[in-house]
Amino acid sequence: MAALRLSGLSKRFGETLALEDVSLAVEPGEFVALLGPSGAGKSTLFRCVTRLLRPDAGRVEVLGRDMAALRGRALREARRNVGLIFQQFNLIGRLDALGNVLAGRLGHVPTWRVVLRTFPGRDRQLALAALDRVGLLEKAYQRADSLSGGQQQRVAIARVLAQRARLVLADEPVASLDPHSAEAVLSALRAIARDEGIAVLCALHQVDLARRFADRVVALRDGRLLLQTDAAGFDEHAFRALYGACAEDAPAGAEAREKAPAA
Ligand SMILES: Nc1ncnc2c1ncn2[C@@H]1O[C@H](COP(=O)(O)OP(=O)(O)O)[C@@H](O)[C@H]1O
Ligand SMILES: [Mg+2]
Repeated sequence: MAALRLSGLSKRFGETLALEDVSLAVEPGEFVALLGPSGAGKSTLFRCVTRLLRPDAGRVEVLGRDMAALRGRALREARRNVGLIFQQFNLIGRLDALGNVLAGRLGHVPTWRVVLRTFPGRDRQLALAALDRVGLLEKAYQRADSLSGGQQQRVAIARVLAQRARLVLADEPVASLDPHSAEAVLSALRAIARDEGIAVLCALHQVDLARRFADRVVALRDGRLLLQTDAAGFDEHAFRALYGACAEDAPAGAEAREKAPAA
């Protein structure tokens, strides 16, 4: 069963067709790069999966369940299966790394424990193991806002591990990072896909990173699915088709990435 299956997904904002008849699937253990220039519809696609947005047409299935059909507890449970990682490291800055990872357990522990911040020992163990998994055990008690951008993104990955997410949606998680940190973050995402069988759908701008880290590349342009291919099959021809006339300006390599604005 696919971890994520989109069928005929469409979303319009006024005159803008942000998504048009998009169908794709991500299997457990697969790292799929969602490529596309700015405005292609990548964030809109993610928002439709988490139901922050209601698609105009089409179907979103997470682990075989139709998200639109779920209500109440069933919807909360289904959402718990989906871990989110954003471009802006959305950690709670004044909490330490461990506290942020424990926040991933919120869907699993009763509300009174959250209010009193008394997480059971096994939750703390799970959170520490998740930090260890991304190589940040020694930073467990350091405030999140004192960590580097790349470290903060790895804490966010530890949080989705602690959440026990089966599907991770990462919306340009390395767009604000230097090349070295970007590689560390993508390595961690690839590792959780391979080792934990988590399905990862990761929006990226950089073709070279998609080719190096992803199993498969899915490319959007103007809301339409332009191609789906093995990462190895994403060649110069496919790249030109995606970025078209602006291929010269496309953020293809490390050099362009360094020139790109920070946010
Ligand atoms: N809330 C919104 N209201 C109006 N237009 C939107 C909204 N969200 C996205 N769009 C438009 O939809 C298109 C796709 O945007 P988006 O999904 O953010 O692209 P990407 O994440 O690939 O850069 C763009 O033309 C964008 O301007
Ligand atoms: Mg976006």
